[in-house]
Amino acid sequence: MKLTDEQKAMLDGKYGEGAAYAMKIQVGIGECFDAERMVPIKRAHVALSNQDGDLWFAEKMVGYGAKCRVAPTVNPGFCLEHFAAASKHPVNAEDADHMRRTDNAYRTLGAVLSYNCTPYIATNVPNFGEVCAFSESSATPYVNSVWGARSNRESANSALCAAITGFVPEYGLLLDENRKGNIVVHVEADMKSAYEYHLLGMMGEKIGEGIPVFVGLPHTIRPEALRNLGAQLNTSGAYGMYHIVGCTPEAPTLEAALGGKAPDREVVITDKDLKEFEEEFSDEMKGNRIDFAMFGCPHFTLEEAMYIARRIEGKKLAVPMYILVSSHTVQMAERMGIMDILTAAGAELIGDTCPDQPCWHYLKGKVGITESPKCAYYPRRRNLHFVIRDLDTCIDAALTGEVR
Ligand code: F3S
Repeated sequence: MKLTDEQKAMLDGKYGEGAAYAMKIQVGIGECFDAERMVPIKRAHVALSNQDGDLWFAEKMVGYGAKCRVAPTVNPGFCLEHFAAASKHPVNAEDADHMRRTDNAYRTLGAVLSYNCTPYIATNVPNFGEVCAFSESSATPYVNSVWGARSNRESANSALCAAITGFVPEYGLLLDENRKGNIVVHVEADMKSAYEYHLLGMMGEKIGEGIPVFVGLPHTIRPEALRNLGAQLNTSGAYGMYHIVGCTPEAPTLEAALGGKAPDREVVITDKDLKEFEEEFSDEMKGNRIDFAMFGCPHFTLEEAMYIARRIEGKKLAVPMYILVSSHTVQMAERMGIMDILTAAGAELIGDTCPDQPCWHYLKGKVGITESPKCAYYPRRRNLHFVIRDLDTCIDAALTGEVR
C-alpha cells in the first residue's frame, strides 16, 4: 500500500502509540483487500456493544493514549439511569460497572456519546459520495444505499481505528466498480407498512450473496422502512448495500443499478414468503398470551413513538411495553407531552438501550412481542423469547395481553 508522509509518520508513532496501533490494524486490513492507498474520512459510527471484546479493545486504545481525530457516534449499551439501583428492575453491580467502564472508555477516546443505532436518520448523516466508516448492521447499508455515501461494512473495532486515524483503506464499496447490483429481487409482496420491510430483509437466504437490486417497491419509502430493510438484511445475511430501482440514488434505472451487466440471479419474493417466515421465526407462546412488548430494534423514531402514544392514549396496557429510542427522542417526547401519555398507559420510553444487553435480566424465560425479527433474534441467547407481528397487532397485544 502506498502511504502518504503523514500516514507513514502516524504508523511510525509520530502521533502517539494509539494512532500508530490503529493505523497498523488498518494497513493490515487494507493489505488483505489489496487496497492501494488510504483515504480520509470526516464521519464515523462505532457499533459499540458494551460486551467484553468491545470494552477490551476500547480500554486498550485508551491505555495507548488514543484520541479520535473524527469523533464517531456510538451504538447503544443500556441506560444506567433507567436501570439504576433505585429503579424497578436494577442491574447487578457487575453489569453496571461494565457499562460505566464502556462509557468512560469512549468518553476518554473522544466519541460522541449518542448511544443510538440509527444515527444516519438524524445525527450523523453523510453527503452523497462521502467516504466514511460506519459499523452497525442497519447503518452501513443505509449510508451506502439511501444516502449514496461510501462505507465498507466496518466492525466496531475497525470503525474506531478509522475514527482515531481519520483514514480508511480504499477497497470494496469505496470503489465505483464494486457498488453495482448483481441480484434482481422482484418484490411481489404487498408492502403495506415498515413491518413488511423487516420481513423482506429477512429473506437473505433466498436472495443470496451480493448486492440486491429491488424491483417493484414504491419510489418513495419512509426512513423507518429503509432502516428496517437494512437491519434485517444484516440479520439474515451480510449486505453492505442494496439498490431500489427508482428510489435509491444509484439506481435511477435497473440497468444503472446493475452497471449494464446481466444479473447473476433473479429472485421473486411473495406474501407467502413473508407470512411463512413470520410463523417459523416466532417463538412458542403460552396459549396466545405474551408477557411484554418491545420495540425499537433498531431504535424507533419520534414519529413511531408518537404513533404508539396516539394508539394507547387514555388506555392501560395489560403487559409492560418497552420502546427503545435515542436520548434525543426521549427529550423531544418529554417536551411534547408524549412521554406523559406513554407513562400513564404503562409504557416505558427508554434512551440509549439495546435489547441485547444484560439490563433485561428480569425478562428471562418470558415471551414478548415485537415487530422486529432482529429484536427476536439476538436476545434469544439471553433466554428472552419473542413472537413477531406487525406493529398494530403488537400494540393490540400489549393492550390485551393476548395475540389476536
Ligand atoms: Fe440497535 Fe441493538 Fe437492535 S444496536 S439494531 S437496538 S440489536
